[in-house]
Amino acid sequence: MLKAIYERIWDLARPYLNTRKNDTHTEIAAGLAQQLLAQEGGDEDVVMPAIILHDTGWKKVPEDVQLKAFGPKATSSEWNRVHEVEGARIAGDILRKVDYPDDKILEIQEIIKGHDSRKEALSINDGIVKDADKLWRYSQNASQINVIRFGVTADENVQWLRRNLETWFLTKSGKQMAKEALEERIQELKEITDFISA
Ligand SMILES: [Fe+2]
Ligand SMILES: [Fe+2]
Repeated sequence: MLKAIYERIWDLARPYLNTRKNDTHTEIAAGLAQQLLAQEGGDEDVVMPAIILHDTGWKKVPEDVQLKAFGPKATSSEWNRVHEVEGARIAGDILRKVDYPDDKILEIQEIIKGHDSRKEALSINDGIVKDADKLWRYSQNASQINVIRFGVTADENVQWLRRNLETWFLTKSGKQMAKEALEERIQELKEITDFISA
């Protein structure tokens, strides 16, 4: 059950999340963050607002350049920085609106500002947000979306996830959850291949 304050943050974030399938991405990533919090510890009052708000900055990136800014075929990664910096700014505005504590706002903004570009974790809270964000890529929802938007085969998508499993994850539970989800994606792929060739 989400705390009432998180619901208010969600409501204020929603108008920024209706692009790039970020609404579903964020909902799934928030669920994954809760699982990671239960296993890894961390401060829920930092992690939950950070994951809810982390991608609000995409709203400031024109939709025609978004696809060049992220994913396996990214060519304009400077736009990726824009979504981090704008996201931190939007998060600050939203959190001040709900009278969130100042020290938590600062930590949340720091996490959002580097959620993609900074490869190491500043804290357990930062590590959980990064892992929850990337764990989404291993979900069935992400696989379906990414095959279409990146123009890759389901098999290529699975290879991409497998290749990055060792470097993307910063917490033990995150890596373990990614491994398990990858096994599920491989199994699904096998079932489809078996069905087609039967
Ligand atoms: Fe992001
Ligand atoms: Fe994200």
